[in-house]
Amino acid sequence: MAVDILLGLQWGDEGKGKIVDFIAPGYDIVARFQGGPNAGHTLVFDGVKHVLHQIPSGIFHQQILNIIGNGVVLDPVVFKREVEALNVRGVNTDENLLISTRTQLIIPTHRLLDAAYEAAKGRNKIGSTLKGIGPTYEDKYGRLGLRVGDVLSRDFMAKYTALRDSHLARLDYLKYDHVQLPELEEAFFAAIEFLKEGKVAETEYTLNAAMQAGKTILAEGAQGTLLDIDFGSYPFVTSSSTTAAGACTGLGIAPSHIGEVYGIFKAYCTRVGSGPFPTELEDEVGEQIRKSGNEFGSTTGRPRRCGWLDLPALRYACMLNNATKLLMMKADVLNGFEEIQICTHYELEDGTQTDRLPYDLTSAPIKPVYKTMKGWNCSLDNIRTFDNLPQELLAYIDYIEEAVGVPITLVSTGPDRKQTITK
Ligand code: GDP
Ligand code: IMO
Ligand code: MG
Repeated sequence: MAVDILLGLQWGDEGKGKIVDFIAPGYDIVARFQGGPNAGHTLVFDGVKHVLHQIPSGIFHQQILNIIGNGVVLDPVVFKREVEALNVRGVNTDENLLISTRTQLIIPTHRLLDAAYEAAKGRNKIGSTLKGIGPTYEDKYGRLGLRVGDVLSRDFMAKYTALRDSHLARLDYLKYDHVQLPELEEAFFAAIEFLKEGKVAETEYTLNAAMQAGKTILAEGAQGTLLDIDFGSYPFVTSSSTTAAGACTGLGIAPSHIGEVYGIFKAYCTRVGSGPFPTELEDEVGEQIRKSGNEFGSTTGRPRRCGWLDLPALRYACMLNNATKLLMMKADVLNGFEEIQICTHYELEDGTQTDRLPYDLTSAPIKPVYKTMKGWNCSLDNIRTFDNLPQELLAYIDYIEEAVGVPITLVSTGPDRKQTITK
């Protein structure tokens, strides 16, 4: 069977957690392929909210195997805390959670380095979540990193010490205080013991054998396409491949096995952290979206920047991922608007218009060109079918489908599992 992928088409926080949980019952396996505890995936059901950072969003379905893939970076401390919190809530992860031996480990000094690098950047900081993501991927590609499989080896302590000491030398050079390290290490080593008790496996074999046996797999992305290391608004990006291609390298699955690519986007745009955001609204309209969408980061609690839907950026993301189906989230957040703007083009510095996402969004100013559409201006609470959606929302959906060339097959009208309308 093919592997389907669900990933974000914007700057993250599109609602991936909610939808993975919603569609997971159609799959045997859910596998995270990149990112780490910078992710915050929110699920709401039975009146309870859960936020997952490291663990795939299929975990609440006992019959589904959840895999943390080799492309992920794992903070054992966050992982331990998350498993324990799930156990307290009655979710048993003993049998349905596997970690790849090849998953890179975030060690305490990676987090300190993340903070030190951000401090050194001053005004140009990325707005990192400070979870150690950049420094851990840096060590992965520098061929210096520690992997989950290493915790079982006899020379783990020696490898750990060598890596930590190289980090300490850098921290000293940057004059970044690391007095809290012994305390961080205590929690880290307790979490390493915890990790050893869990299930670690060569998950590339698990996944390929499952495919051979006709099992269905959903690959769960973190962050979003516009934060991708290659195609995002560099350098204001994360450090992993967030596109569909990342699912192949991040899980050990050949490209020819990819089936559907579900591209998920909000009915508007948000961004948390620094970096260009062409349709950002720094006015009361942006504030209204933030309030009504409760747009505050699931990982850091920071207010998310808000703006209108950006079609050139969405089209670019669909192209890079070959998105086969689009899922539109948070339509309800626009319920209170008489009129909705949608960015169709950008006006460049020389006055010409383009529908392509320019290479440089930072130094050369671009102005979004908007089309105004009539808002639906009513509640979507009691609507259960596509056909019953207000005409204005259907027109908005039609317009996006036409502009992007991919069908919208799901509309989300609230955070709860139940507030989901499929075609
Ligand atoms: P993820 O990182 O892509 O999983 O998204 P986050 O969980 O960080 O952010 C999405 C936020 O929107 C969460 O608080 C969700 O509970 C919430 N949410 C998801 N879908 C909807 C929706 O259709 N309407 C509203 N109002 N909230 C939603
Ligand atoms: P989910 O999976 C939104 C942003 C950070 C920062 C930049 C780099 O919940 O959608 P990093 O910590 O990766 O070095 O930060 O990327 N960022 C996210 N924004 N959602 C996320 O994940 C994000 N993960 C990282 O705010 O701007
Ligand atoms: Mg999130």
